[in-house]
Amino acid sequence: MLFPDYRPRRLRQSKAFRRMVRETELSVNDLILPLFAVEGKDVKNPISSMPGHFQLSVDHIVQTAEEAHGLGIPAVILFGIPSDKDSLATQAYKKDGIVQKTISAIKERIPDLAVITDVCLCGYTDHGHCGIVNGQIIDNDATLDLLAKIAVSHAKAGADMVAPSDMMDGRVAEIRDGLDENNFSHIPIMAYSAKYCSAYYGPFRQAAESAPQFGDRRTYQMDPANAVEAIREATLDIEEGADIIMVKPALSYLDIIYRLREETDLPIAAYNVSGEFSMIKAAEQLGWMDGTAVMLETLTSIKRAGADMILTYFAIDAAKAIG
Ligand code: PBG
Ligand code: ZN
Repeated sequence: MLFPDYRPRRLRQSKAFRRMVRETELSVNDLILPLFAVEGKDVKNPISSMPGHFQLSVDHIVQTAEEAHGLGIPAVILFGIPSDKDSLATQAYKKDGIVQKTISAIKERIPDLAVITDVCLCGYTDHGHCGIVNGQIIDNDATLDLLAKIAVSHAKAGADMVAPSDMMDGRVAEIRDGLDENNFSHIPIMAYSAKYCSAYYGPFRQAAESAPQFGDRRTYQMDPANAVEAIREATLDIEEGADIIMVKPALSYLDIIYRLREETDLPIAAYNVSGEFSMIKAAEQLGWMDGTAVMLETLTSIKRAGADMILTYFAIDAAKAIG
């Protein structure tokens, strides 16, 4: 049927009709809130490029986690900023490391809130790379054992899920083995499977103090020009035992989310990264766009592309806006 017999506007004429035919519904259930943990007490250092976000000491993180839980957000993901860094990231798997302490504090106060942890070296190494450095080379195989150690230390502290973001080859299998050998076969792995080498991570590196001190991450993170390779990466992670696969960043990579949705029946997470958040906040502060409307449109588009869950610095704002 064609115009004038068929008129698509008929089903857009009222709010009720629009609600009835809406295909995608953003829900608070979809949101995961990233948090940055620092040592100390009563510390709340604003992250200038990410308005409303802070490096928080454990006491404040628990408060923010409580707010998120109260709004119905099911999970947080933790990033640690240790007081000391070294070439081997030893602070990353310490029993009383910053993330380990934060996990137990949150789980003690809010047992129902899922605590996911980012598993990587870059926040803990003095060189800022996601793997062990050998000369100028990032040594893949030497890194795997450490990643498994970090994941196990998080699980011991009470983490509900681990999320490796390093992009070393073979890490999912190594982490799965490590968890299983330590009686954590029930802990799922959310793999940053298609993690691109993106300039959108800029504000995060300021927040996490994790910028590489030499070179860049091109030898391990994916080339933004590649899409088929994302399928290969995700396939490997799934074969190695990933429970959830992630695409990161989200907004410039909606096609990747869509392709992976066609390829796999595993849940897909999308990381609406720091730069994507900062751009919208900046435009809002300049009075150039309606920040809340753009936030909701953006998050809805990520879901429409095929993501089941979204890691986003907008989690609290969005939960409030959805109501
Ligand atoms: C570290 C890590 C990064 C992010 C999450 N984990 C940054 C990076 O790879 O440099 C980015 C998150 C964001 O920008 O919001 N492996
Ligand atoms: Zn890293």
